Amino acid sequence: MGYAEVYAAAKSDPEGFWMEQAKAIDWDEAPTKALHDANAPLYEWFKDAKVNTCYNAVDRHVENGRGDQAAIIYDSPVTDTKETITYAELQKRVSSLAGALKAKGVTKGDRVIIYMPMIPQALEAMLACARLGAIHSVVFGGFAANELAVRIDDATPKAIIAGSCGIEPGRVVQYKPLLDGAIELATHKPDFCVIYQREPEIAPLTPGRDFDWHEVQSDVAPADCVPVEGDHPAYILYTSGTTGAPKGVVRPTAGHLVALNWSMKAIYNIDPGEVFWAASDVGWVVGHSYICYGPLIAGNTTIVFEGKPVGTPDAGTFWRVIDEHKVKSFFTAPTAFRAIKRDDPEGKLIENYDISHLRALYLAGERADPDTIEWAQRVMGVPVYDHWWQTETGWSIAGNPAGIEPLPVKIGSPTVAMPGYDVQILDEAGHPMPAGELGAIAVKLPLPPGTLPTLWNAEERFKKSYLNTFPGYYETGDAGMIDEDGYLYIMARTDDVINVAGHRLSTGQMEEVIAGHPDVAECAVIGVTDALKGQLPMGFVCLNKGCDRADDMIKAEVVKRVRDTIGPVAAFKLVAVVDRLPKTRSGKILRATMVKIADNEEFKMPATIDDPAILDEIKEALVPMGYAGA
Ligand code: COA
Ligand code: AMP
Repeated sequence: MGYAEVYAAAKSDPEGFWMEQAKAIDWDEAPTKALHDANAPLYEWFKDAKVNTCYNAVDRHVENGRGDQAAIIYDSPVTDTKETITYAELQKRVSSLAGALKAKGVTKGDRVIIYMPMIPQALEAMLACARLGAIHSVVFGGFAANELAVRIDDATPKAIIAGSCGIEPGRVVQYKPLLDGAIELATHKPDFCVIYQREPEIAPLTPGRDFDWHEVQSDVAPADCVPVEGDHPAYILYTSGTTGAPKGVVRPTAGHLVALNWSMKAIYNIDPGEVFWAASDVGWVVGHSYICYGPLIAGNTTIVFEGKPVGTPDAGTFWRVIDEHKVKSFFTAPTAFRAIKRDDPEGKLIENYDISHLRALYLAGERADPDTIEWAQRVMGVPVYDHWWQTETGWSIAGNPAGIEPLPVKIGSPTVAMPGYDVQILDEAGHPMPAGELGAIAVKLPLPPGTLPTLWNAEERFKKSYLNTFPGYYETGDAGMIDEDGYLYIMARTDDVINVAGHRLSTGQMEEVIAGHPDVAECAVIGVTDALKGQLPMGFVCLNKGCDRADDMIKAEVVKRVRDTIGPVAAFKLVAVVDRLPKTRSGKILRATMVKIADNEEFKMPATIDDPAILDEIKEALVPMGYAGA
């Protein structure tokens, strides 16, 4: 069957289609039914099944003769380390860590926060939780203590598993002081922490609370897999929304297993035993779905890469990893390719390597600009597939189904809707728009298996954020269009979310942090275009009347405040002090107009603007910063 037939089959008979895909999973109790719609518009998949994710990602492969196959290849140019972990070894390590967690009281349904760098132990920690039916929540290492504290208070974990440090080019990021600071800040306190000590930074442990990763595992029995219900949360992953409070996206166990397993062949064209590499971080959804779970569920070899596309040691690192580990499908964010292209514009370094076994490059996480796609196609000589999805969905909403039938690539489009997603473009009133016209991208309910059923402890927020605007649809937060051939185009966000180097950030959250500065009367944060990172956050601050402190001092404090509160990942370095912000007569800040001015794009004067002269003041502030056509 080609793509059109598969898509049509999933649409006309979702029950039959997904029950068929479910046969690839090893169930403790097989589902009798795929979709459960009694609580519509809240939907659940495979709810009456019993299953264990870790069993499907690890144990079953050992039982089926893959014990000696590499499950994980760890390649860390920043520590000059390489390690191969077979499925049999992974089973031993994960059951041992799970045994330790169990001995310390972690049981099914308990939350466990994982705060670790890109090392295999991060995956082991995730899988150990899954083995016990505990719900993990991985927090990205580039977030500050405050962000970790917010997640501790929302997830109320019984335990936290952390690395002692992460390694960024040129500096060691000490995780332990951040962890201690977060626990101090949080109202909820975990019962205990497990610390994986890494050589560059052996952290002092807090007696009675912190336990060494290895010591805690000595003298405990390995733990078996605990079957959980199909709708049991596999994990919570926090992502940015409009406000400062991150949204805890819940991933349901059974749908996650079925959808990811299906996607490895259908989208990434990978067969069991082959090597798949997603160069991202376990702190993001790409890391959850395609560094950890997807490839392991499907019996592939996954690569845990601790490094950057450039500077570790050079722009040839990606080619080396693809060559050395015989990667068949490779997935990363466009920003990584922009970084490589900037350092090695001719792509000369690739000549030192043999990447002939690579079938395709997959890009996602942010808009893939045509220049980057064309450069990658030319230098690598393989198809480049853009695909579009979100933390909320956990797998592609739109992509090129290379394992079913590779479709012609149209540059600028992540291709077509994946089976199970009825993607539509809606106008403000929720009416479908004709082909070629721009509108809000929505997905007709129900969403397919593996997508979020709700937000952690926040069902009303879930409905308000995603379901209420267009009844009967899931609102993606992206705007775009569909052409006559059914190809989708993603143009912009419809909310205050920006995308910085593939990282999803909330300008609203940054505004909340900046507004807390004692000299700031009001502020606005916008996302301006950046050649490397796609977008960068830029802040505009108006100072309190009578404030006579130097602008530069306040700017530096504002930058530090965002870095200390949200984290270095916010990449917040651009601030202007202005007298006034442009607003509508009803007081709404004209952020979209400010973006156009900063990017030096044509814009229409908003009819409701209060005082057009303020736009000139904004432009004057932008020019010295190198924006607005400077
Ligand atoms: N722990 C601690 N700090 C981290 C971190 C981590 N895991 N990841 C990033 N940071 C820090 C960086 O060191 C940097 O700090 P600095 O301001 O002191 O320089 C800051 O956060 C911003 O990081 P980043 O946006 O990644 O910028 P960069 O300049 O370090 O690197 C790229 C730019 C393009 C090379 C890098 O973003 C990259 O490799 N991107 C790949 C895309 C990707 O993985 N996207 C994830 C979603 S698929
Ligand atoms: P995240 O939840 O961090 O994966 O971010 C999801 C958001 O990133 C989407 O809603 C889009 O705004 C953006 N995004 C992801 N993939 C793409 C893509 N291929 N093209 C354009 N935007 C994308």
